[in-house]
Amino acid sequence: MSAPATLAPDVTLANGVAMPRIGFGLFRVAPGATARDIAAEALTAGYRLLDTAAIYRNETEVGQAVAASGLPRDRLFVTSKVWNDDQGYPRSLTAFERAQAALGSIDLYLLHWPVPERRLAAWRALEDLYLDGRVRAIGVSNFMVHHLDELLAAARVAPMVNQVELSPFLPQRELAAYCARAGIVLTAYSPLTKGHRLAHPLLVEEATRLGCSPAQLLLRWVLAQGHALVVKSSDPQRMRENLAAGDGALDAAALARLDALDEGLVTGWDPRDAP
Ligand SMILES: NC(=O)c1ccc[n+]([C@@H]2O[C@H](COP(=O)([O-])OP(=O)(O)OC[C@H]3O[C@@H](n4cnc5c(N)ncnc54)[C@H](OP(=O)(O)O)[C@@H]3O)[C@@H](O)[C@H]2O)c1
Repeated sequence: MSAPATLAPDVTLANGVAMPRIGFGLFRVAPGATARDIAAEALTAGYRLLDTAAIYRNETEVGQAVAASGLPRDRLFVTSKVWNDDQGYPRSLTAFERAQAALGSIDLYLLHWPVPERRLAAWRALEDLYLDGRVRAIGVSNFMVHHLDELLAAARVAPMVNQVELSPFLPQRELAAYCARAGIVLTAYSPLTKGHRLAHPLLVEEATRLGCSPAQLLLRWVLAQGHALVVKSSDPQRMRENLAAGDGALDAAALARLDALDEGLVTGWDPRDAP
């Protein structure tokens, strides 16, 4: 019997490392919750990629949840990111030491934002961490085409991942084509538009027709583009609902209707005009 169809097989990065396609994000956990409990709940729900960052100020708690989970470390994938103040060569190396001490170990380390003047030196630090075997993969976040052009012209190691805001309401088509050509896996953050468009009538109608939730429909659209994603919920039921999005499929009609939703919607910081 063949395996069930899934939209979410692990994605293979340019260096051969396998990364779970659906990750759990830990930016701003809900008031009253702790990142440790939320991360533990996400692991119980079945997530195997946790996405944190120095600026989320919860690397220690995420590390505690990983250690307490009892899961073999090589079955988990932990992503963290260097914050802007720590970009530059020596500062990024120091930031990594702090992050590693908090998290135990890091699979994927990203530059969080394309900081002018300092991003290339910060990238050299990440390259050295990678070439020294301290992390399994390195990448960037919020890099647009002009930032990637500059980076690829200078890099010894090309980024394996670029994590950017992406949803049908912000499909990032030019960037997606660029990353596909360059062998960079695009990872969508805020794929649920932070909730802003979940009640959109077209989404609700298509989700009803397909027997899934509007959130699952958004995630399936991202997966159907071939991207990875990181999604967040503080609710155990919704954590499972989001992860299960990978088990369904989208028909051509749904894809076409969602393709028409592009409105350039940015719900967080907008890197498109960042120098
Ligand atoms: N690299 C970067 O610069 C960057 C920037 C932003 C985010 N990120 C990463 O991306 C992750 C996800 O993005 P995000 O947290 O901004 O937004 P998101 O995942 O698009 O949306 C999260 C919001 O949607 C709600 N939600 C989740 N599942 C739902 C469902 N099935 N039905 C209805 N509502 C649902 C959540 O509420 P409940 O908690 O109540 O379910 C929460 O309010 C972050 O946690 C972070 O790891 C990275």
